[in-house]
Amino acid sequence: MAAVVIVGAQWGDEGKGKVVDIFTEQADLVVRFGGGPNAGHTLVVNGDKVVVRLIPSGILHPRTRCVLGQGMVIDPASLFLEIDELVRRGRLPVDVGHDRLAVSDRAHAILPYHVTIDTLREAGRGAIGTTKRGVGPCYEDKVARRGLQLGVLRDLRRTRDLVERALEAWAPTAAALGGTLPTASEVMDKLEPLAARLVPLLTDTAVIAEAAVRAKKKVLFEGAQGTLLDVDHGTYPFVTSSSATAGGACTGAGVGPTRIDKVFGLVKAYTTRVGSGPFPTELNDETGERLRQKGAEFGSVTGRPRRTGWLDLPALAYATRVNGLDALALTKLDVLTGLPELRVCVAYRAADGAERPFPIDDEPGVTPVYETLPGWTEPLEGARKLSDLPKAARAYVDFIEQKAGSPIELVSVGPGREETILLTDPFGG
Ligand code: IMP
Repeated sequence: MAAVVIVGAQWGDEGKGKVVDIFTEQADLVVRFGGGPNAGHTLVVNGDKVVVRLIPSGILHPRTRCVLGQGMVIDPASLFLEIDELVRRGRLPVDVGHDRLAVSDRAHAILPYHVTIDTLREAGRGAIGTTKRGVGPCYEDKVARRGLQLGVLRDLRRTRDLVERALEAWAPTAAALGGTLPTASEVMDKLEPLAARLVPLLTDTAVIAEAAVRAKKKVLFEGAQGTLLDVDHGTYPFVTSSSATAGGACTGAGVGPTRIDKVFGLVKAYTTRVGSGPFPTELNDETGERLRQKGAEFGSVTGRPRRTGWLDLPALAYATRVNGLDALALTKLDVLTGLPELRVCVAYRAADGAERPFPIDDEPGVTPVYETLPGWTEPLEGARKLSDLPKAARAYVDFIEQKAGSPIELVSVGPGREETILLTDPFGG
């Protein structure tokens, strides 16, 4: 099995960084296919914490080539902050080239005015709780066909021209929001030195991905955010602006659907979301606070407390359908240790008693139906096989697997790489 896609099955923050890191141990190529610096993975390797936002976590494995695909939006300033940090920690060579980290020349540049617009909007009526990294306005420029593909940076005169045009287009919005945009000269002064560093990393990354898949290399397509934040399939308008689902791997990496062998969905043992929008199983009580504290549920980009709640199986069924999930990775099971009992939403019921599928936001009066399962008190961190889990934890895993209808092939029982029950070879047949 060569080409594996991994996506979040909830609202992001399913613990992708760690799982991708484990899968990447074997991968020849890791391709990130969407989103931008709105994502954030904290990796713990030998006690050393590394935060990556744009660069795939696979970068920590010296033999793995990493690609930032054309579905991404890339802030050159953020990218070089990350690269410089990795160089400082000895995880990347000073002269890193595109043999190690290749950036699509068709990915779009997030520029300071995108951040200004995102921030101004978040202070006003239209706020949805974005990460304020300029992601939405950059994708808006992309679909408005006035965006700046990174390849344009090879020609600074054209770059300036496009920056001027974008600033003109955004000026009325900025004025209406009561803000001011940076000037073209201010943008270019910051951008020029970054462009000089970025251009050597640029290439047609779709060619790299396709060649690796054809050569039967192990290729991991790494999604960002989660299914329910996808611009098409998520809880619109409380979504990000990109395709966070498995289909996005094809458009965002530039490989055809016939090349993908397996789609993995990541699901946290409970649910979280950052920002506004529907969350049927949300807990606004002591149990929710306990999950937040024990699970360290604070945004890795913004530090915001995440909203927390019980596991939502109708939402997982929805994610299974729209992604065509073949298998699941269940994360953060250890966070549930110590809760006397666990509730899992197994259906939604309308006022007339009939069941409703996810999503339910258009119909008032629909409520989650829960089943209650016993909790456990034993720590899970030492478990390396399913049979090491306490009986109630094992029953919880079995319950999810049976209801979800997809095999659980990995269970994460702690933040460390070794605190993992890996049931199959992710690239196995
Ligand atoms: P944006 O992607 O910054 O435009 O934010 C849009 C929505 O997606 C907001 O609710 C964010 O909190 C959410 N979001 C974006 N990236 C992530 C992520 O990596 N994890 C969780 N939520 C995210």
